[in-house]
Amino acid sequence: MSKLALYGGTPVREDVLYKGWPGIREYGLEEAENLIKVIKARSPFRYYGPDIQNMVKNFEKGMRERFGVKHAVGVTSCTASLIIALKAAGIGPGDKVIVPACTFLATAGAVVCAGAVPVFCDVDDTMNIDPKKIKDVADKYTKAVITVPLGGFPVQMDEVMVEAKKLGLIVIEDVAQSMGASLNGKPMGTWGDIGCFSLQMNKIITTGEGGVVVSNNDELFERAVRYHDQGQYREMEGFLTDCADRVFIGQNYRMSELTGAVALAQLDKLDKILTRMRQIKKQIKDEIKDIPGIRFKRVIDEEGDAACSLTLLFDTVEKADLFNKALNAEGIAVSAQYGGRPVYMIPQIFHQKTVDRDNFPFNQFDEPVVYTEDMCPCANYYMPRSCFISLSAEFEEQDVRDVITAIKKVAAEIL
Ligand SMILES: Cc1ncc(COP(=O)(O)O)c(C=O)c1O
Repeated sequence: MSKLALYGGTPVREDVLYKGWPGIREYGLEEAENLIKVIKARSPFRYYGPDIQNMVKNFEKGMRERFGVKHAVGVTSCTASLIIALKAAGIGPGDKVIVPACTFLATAGAVVCAGAVPVFCDVDDTMNIDPKKIKDVADKYTKAVITVPLGGFPVQMDEVMVEAKKLGLIVIEDVAQSMGASLNGKPMGTWGDIGCFSLQMNKIITTGEGGVVVSNNDELFERAVRYHDQGQYREMEGFLTDCADRVFIGQNYRMSELTGAVALAQLDKLDKILTRMRQIKKQIKDEIKDIPGIRFKRVIDEEGDAACSLTLLFDTVEKADLFNKALNAEGIAVSAQYGGRPVYMIPQIFHQKTVDRDNFPFNQFDEPVVYTEDMCPCANYYMPRSCFISLSAEFEEQDVRDVITAIKKVAAEIL
């Protein structure tokens, strides 16, 4: 093999291959036509206007059908949908919520914004929550567990559900990164009590910003709808009606018709995007699977992998660091998962920096909530030993070949 670009050799690619953002790459006439309908109708609001096009309503119907779930409501983001889910479940001050150690900041942040406190559960070699460890971090204050299928990889939800039931915990699924992932054919987001999706630009389908809450539970869903719209359920009882027994003070997390227009067109493209990403991932894995020193992050259900990312694992942090640097130099954009650190090491979480007085909501417990660097040893082991590669349905055949060539080239030199 030729000299590594890291050491002055010719890179596999001159330009850097980063084709994340699978959704925007599928933007086309369908999104534009829906948007034009809303604009021509001058009806960008879902609940009233001169000529409502029902984009959000049809998108919600599409979500229910695609995911085989009873209820869906479009919202402004996945962070909003997590807060809505927590509030719908009655979670707030004095409660703790279990969050996996490997996730994005928003999962833990939403818990704090809902007035509760996150506690962190370690992962296993899937880098998703380890169901066996949930009980170790639950105490008398713990009300819920949030699961996160990371980078398209399904969570062992069957085991999570058993553990949660034993402990009396509500299960909230944060499926932000993994729309379309499943376990045994059952979609992520529909295993637990309530599921949360993102439509932000990095996600598999996208409206730039946006989210969805889904549930099979009538009562939770009613509370979710109310919380997202100032405590009201307009489709049930109209606007500002007097039904004091059911209303409460809520937020405005409503999805606009402009967002709904794009979401509706994108949802139609989800399966096409998933199919292509799965083909690409399989092709890359097949070609590199026998390279000594490279291991894949374990996937519990290959068919249920949304395949928007590929994660390689190495024996040592030094090897992973060098591998990531060398692959970047070859023109393939990669990094250790979340920079190699568990979510609780992000400063505002670790130091419990909240916007509220007296460090609310961390001040609600008899004993202080303590986070330590080493509290999730498996997350600390796997994250800095990882190489995270974003995959996109837009990879051309040459892009796929470049990823394979670069991995083989780097592996031959440094592993
Ligand atoms: C796991 C996870 N949860 C929540 C979010 C937040 O999503 P949003 O940007 O739609 O609020 C993200 C976004 O990256 C995420 O990756």
